[in-house]
Amino acid sequence: MKNVIFRLRRWDPDTKSYIQSEYEIPVRRGMTILDGLIWIKEYKDRTVSYRASCRMGLCGSCGMVVNGRPMLACETQILHLEKDVITLEPLYNYEPIRDLVSDFHAFFEKQRMIKPYIIREDIEEQINPTREYIQSKEEWNLYIQFAMCITCGLCYSACPTTSTDPRYLGPQALMNLYRFLIDSRDYADKIRLEIADQVDGVWGCHLATGCSEVCPKGDDPALAIQLLRREILRKSLKLYRGKRITDLAPPLPPKNKSIYRAFGEAPKFTIEKAEEKAREFDILEDERLR
Ligand code: SF4
Ligand code: FES
Repeated sequence: MKNVIFRLRRWDPDTKSYIQSEYEIPVRRGMTILDGLIWIKEYKDRTVSYRASCRMGLCGSCGMVVNGRPMLACETQILHLEKDVITLEPLYNYEPIRDLVSDFHAFFEKQRMIKPYIIREDIEEQINPTREYIQSKEEWNLYIQFAMCITCGLCYSACPTTSTDPRYLGPQALMNLYRFLIDSRDYADKIRLEIADQVDGVWGCHLATGCSEVCPKGDDPALAIQLLRREILRKSLKLYRGKRITDLAPPLPPKNKSIYRAFGEAPKFTIEKAEEKAREFDILEDERLR
């Protein structure tokens, strides 16, 4: 057990300024920053505000700046930081709401702008799907690295362009745009490339790569932005070939006749039959245990 100081830079919405609070907390091995904050709320100060949900690096809601670096509070172990004093701040480049809680409206608005969903021409099939879209392992491999995002927003907090240009689409939105551009199920190449090909789109990136460094899922938005630039350049040079659009899987036969031939007709299951089977099973189990 070791005592560590948590120094919180808290946003006060009433005075519209930051205040600083310090708490000394007892730290056990394995305790995370989020555990420390929960302890403070439980035993020291009920007014401390932070955002968290899953506590396992999945929901993306506990992002904050830990000793100057954007991190997930639930994935960061206190003792791994090897510091006696740990400074916690709300994420940079977001409007603060209260204490360590940031406003994600602008982040999700940018997400909405890039149309983060599959767009197809067979609208009827998309609305009332009858079959699956075939996708090969190779096609899946193209985008899966960019599809692990948990929308934690750490990449925006580490991005120097986002800090100076609030209109910049930003690393996560551009990466997600690329993820759908190269998805073989998506038809909307033209719209997606137009959205990306803007001063506030891919051309706003200065390739600082802070986004990829802090991403807790290894998504690499900086790489996605460069690949997106390549596609835009190809298109302007008329070298863009597009991609093969995924077909619908063939329909399943109404009955798998070969199975019925091998095992006879499928049994008609009733409650009585289920109970009978359960009784048979009980008898067999009793005999086995005797
Ligand atoms: S790209 Fe990474 S850092 Fe950015 S929002 Fe997604 S998971 Fe978080
Ligand atoms: S609480 Fe869900 S990612 Fe940290």
